[in-house]
Amino acid sequence: MKLYTNPASPFARKVRLCLHEMGRIDDVETEVVAGHPTDPGTMPVGVNPLGKLPCLARDDGPALYDSRVITRFLDEHFGGGLYPAPPRLYETLTLEATADGVMEAAVLIVYETRSRKEGERSEAWVAGQRVKIDRALSVLEDRWMSHLKGGVDIGVLAVGAALGYLDFRHPDYDWRADRAALASWEASFVQRPSMQATLPVAP
Ligand code: BEZ
Repeated sequence: MKLYTNPASPFARKVRLCLHEMGRIDDVETEVVAGHPTDPGTMPVGVNPLGKLPCLARDDGPALYDSRVITRFLDEHFGGGLYPAPPRLYETLTLEATADGVMEAAVLIVYETRSRKEGERSEAWVAGQRVKIDRALSVLEDRWMSHLKGGVDIGVLAVGAALGYLDFRHPDYDWRADRAALASWEASFVQRPSMQATLPVAP
């Protein structure tokens, strides 16, 4: 199996977090690729026609994408235990979807700033993405703290990856202000060996 990844991608980090938590990081080959919506660069477009990462190429079946499909597959393949049984499963998947939405909005802001020239950028569109992030983080603070403190699952790992990406690419955004519980949880969670082994770096 080969995982197409990038050390800055929060979605790829979520997959690598799963592998670390399962003790299986060395069982999957990785290849670093890079690109963006207006230039596929080295993205594996022959493996994932959408030209997005992460993408998992398998020897005995079609390639898998996106990150939610890959993590589900890896958990089943390696017996990871990162997906609880229903009804908690639906909570966990909703937490993952919330964190993925934060990552997506944060990545889109980066693309808007990077791929468009100054006069072509839409401040209103960027502000709309920021509002989504703000709302989602406030919901984590108000409703999800007991789940976040209740043990590691795919939703919890996704939140770790999302908050890490905000600090990495949006250092001026003080998401911790007025979110003391989430900030305190993150300060402890980021110490996990899996989080330390996957800290984002600019490629
Ligand atoms: C980034 O550089 O922020 C990035 C790289 C790959 C995927 C998503 C984001």
